[in-house]
Amino acid sequence: MVESHGEPGTGEAHDWSWATADPEHVPPEVDTSKPSIARVYDAALGGKDNYAVDRAVIEEALKISPAPIGAARANRDLLIRGVRHLARQGIDQFLDLGSGLPSAQNTHQVAQAENPNARVVYVDNDPIVLAHGQALLARNASTRVVTADLLDVTDVLDHPDVVGFLDFSRPIGLVMLSVVHHILDEEDPVGVVNAYKARIAPGSYLFLSHFCDSFPEARALKDVLLRAIGRGQMRGTEEITAFFDGFELLEPGVVPTPLWRPDTPVTQPLDDSGLLIAGGMARKP
Ligand SMILES: C[S@@+](CC[C@H](N)C(=O)[O-])C[C@H]1O[C@@H](n2cnc3c(N)ncnc32)[C@H](O)[C@@H]1O
Repeated sequence: MVESHGEPGTGEAHDWSWATADPEHVPPEVDTSKPSIARVYDAALGGKDNYAVDRAVIEEALKISPAPIGAARANRDLLIRGVRHLARQGIDQFLDLGSGLPSAQNTHQVAQAENPNARVVYVDNDPIVLAHGQALLARNASTRVVTADLLDVTDVLDHPDVVGFLDFSRPIGLVMLSVVHHILDEEDPVGVVNAYKARIAPGSYLFLSHFCDSFPEARALKDVLLRAIGRGQMRGTEEITAFFDGFELLEPGVVPTPLWRPDTPVTQPLDDSGLLIAGGMARKP
C-alpha cells in the first residue's frame, strides 16, 4: 500500500501544527507503544521527534558501545558530502529511499544549495516521516514525500509522485543511506537494490551506506536492533561492496563513512563510531 499526501507548493489542507506546536500530542498514525526505526535514529541524532520507547533502544545500545551516536552523525555528514558531490556532477534529480525524519541538512537542501531546481523524492515506510516531511516541505515545489515500503519496488517506482516527478530517461541519484541494513537476508536485499539499479538510466549513481561488521561489539548492537525492532543486519565490507556490482565504484570505494571523501583529512585512527557504518558511491555505465 503506497500513499502520499498533499501537494507541496499548493498549500493543500493538512494540519501539521502538532508537529512543532505540541510535543505531547501524538498523531493517530504513530504507535508510541513500539519503537520505530526512523524515531530511534532521530533519537540517536539528538532530534525531538521520538518517544520514550525509542530512546530506550538507544539507551540499551549505549550500554554496549557509544558508537551509535557518532555513527549516526557521521552518516548524516556522509549524506551531505555525497549529495553535494552528485549535484556538482550535474545530477539534478534524487530518489532518497528510507529517507528518515527531517534532520538539519536533508537531501533536498544539500542538492538545492547547488542547483535550486534539483528535484528530490523522499520515500519512507514510516508515516511519521511523511507528517514531518510535509511540514518541512510545505513550500518546496521541487520535493515530494511518499510513504511506501521500498521492498515493493514496483509500487515505489510506479507511484505518481515518483514516476511523474522524476525523469527516468535521465540520470538519477539513487540514495540508500543506512536503510539496506534493515532489509533481512531472507528479503533478498541484493535483489531489491538491483531492481532499483535496473530502472535508472546510464550515468545515474547509487549512493549507499550500511552497518558494517567491523568491530566486536557490532554484532551485539545488531542484536539490540533485532530484539527492539525486528530489523537489523550487520554485513561485511565485501557484502556491502556487492550492492554496487555492475556499477563503476568511485574512489575510495566502500569505506567507513568518515573516510569517504572527507572535507578535511582524517588524521586520527577511527574509533567504533567511525567504523560502524561503511558507504560508497558508484556510477551506472
Ligand atoms: C536509519 S534511518 C536512515 C535515514 C537516512 N537515510 C539517513 O541515512 O540519514 C532508516 C530509515 O529507513 C526507513 N525504512 C526502513 N525500512 C524501510 C522500508 N522497507 N521501506 C521504506 N523505508 C524504510 C526507516 O523508517 C527509517 O526512516
